[in-house]
Amino acid sequence: MFQEKTSANHLNVVTTSTEDGAFQKKAHSARILSPEEAERLENDRVLVSEFKQLKLEKEAQKNWDLFYKRNSTNFFKDRHWTTREFQELKAFREKNALYSTERCKVFQCDLTKDDLLENIPADSVDVVTLIFVLSAIHPEKMHLVLKNIYKVLKPGKCVLFRDYGLYDHAMLRFKSGSKLGENFYVRQDGTRSYFFTEEFLSQLFKSEGYEQVVNEYVQRETVNRKEDLRVPRVFLQSKFQKPFRLIYPCFLHK
Ligand SMILES: C[S@@+](CC[C@H](N)C(=O)[O-])C[C@H]1O[C@@H](n2cnc3c(N)ncnc32)[C@H](O)[C@@H]1O
Repeated sequence: MFQEKTSANHLNVVTTSTEDGAFQKKAHSARILSPEEAERLENDRVLVSEFKQLKLEKEAQKNWDLFYKRNSTNFFKDRHWTTREFQELKAFREKNALYSTERCKVFQCDLTKDDLLENIPADSVDVVTLIFVLSAIHPEKMHLVLKNIYKVLKPGKCVLFRDYGLYDHAMLRFKSGSKLGENFYVRQDGTRSYFFTEEFLSQLFKSEGYEQVVNEYVQRETVNRKEDLRVPRVFLQSKFQKPFRLIYPCFLHK
C-alpha cells in the first residue's frame, strides 16, 4: 500500500491491492475521463421525456420486482468486501450477543414514503447500511430516505454507504436515450441509477443533520483476462454519523 499527497499536503489518494489481487484506489477527486469518454458524455444531452420519467417513477417498485424475478438472487454475488470495508459490521456481529438470524425483523417498505418508526423504535438502530440502494431512488427524493433513517438511528451511530460513483464504467456504457437528468440514467429494464459525486452526497447527508466521518471514491479496475478487458469501476464509499444530542452549557451550570 502507498499514499500520494497533493501539494496542499492533503492526503488525496491511497492505493492498495485487495486480497483478490485487484487494484484499488481511494481518492477525493473524481476519475479523470479520457478525451473520447468526455466527448461522449458531453454529447449525450437529450433527456427522456417527462411523460416517460413520470411513468418510471410510478412503476419503480414494479420494475425492481421484475428485475429480481428475472435474476433471482444469483445476480448480486456474495459481497465479501462488506466486512473488509466496513469493520463496524464485523464488530457489530461479533460483539452483539443478541445477534441472531432468528431475532431479525424483516419487513418491506418504500423508504421515501413509509415511516420507519412504524416498525423500528426511535433512536434504536446501531448501524444502517445503504449499499447500492440510494442510487435507485430519484435524486429529488433521496433526502426523504435520509430523514426517515435519521429518526431510528441511535445518536453517535453511522450509516454505511457504498454506491455508484461519478464516471463508473456503468455510467459510460449507457446509450443515448437513457439519460434522465444530471448523472441519472435508466436501464433497459426500467430500473434507474444515479452516479454520486462526493460533494453531492456530502451535501445531502449534512442537510439532514448527519456528520461526515468518511466520504471518498473507491476506484477499482476489473480485469477480464479472457477478453483482455480492463474496466474502470468507481464507487463512493462513506460513513455519516447521527450526532450525539447537544447539551447546552446553561443546563449543566445552574
Ligand atoms: C441495485 S439494488 C441493490 C440491492 C442490494 N442492496 C445489493 O447491494 O445487492 C437496489 C435496491 O433498492 C431498492 N429500492 C429502490 N427504491 C426503493 C425505495 N423507494 N425504498 C426501498 N428500497 C428501494 C430496490 O428494491 C433494490 O432492491
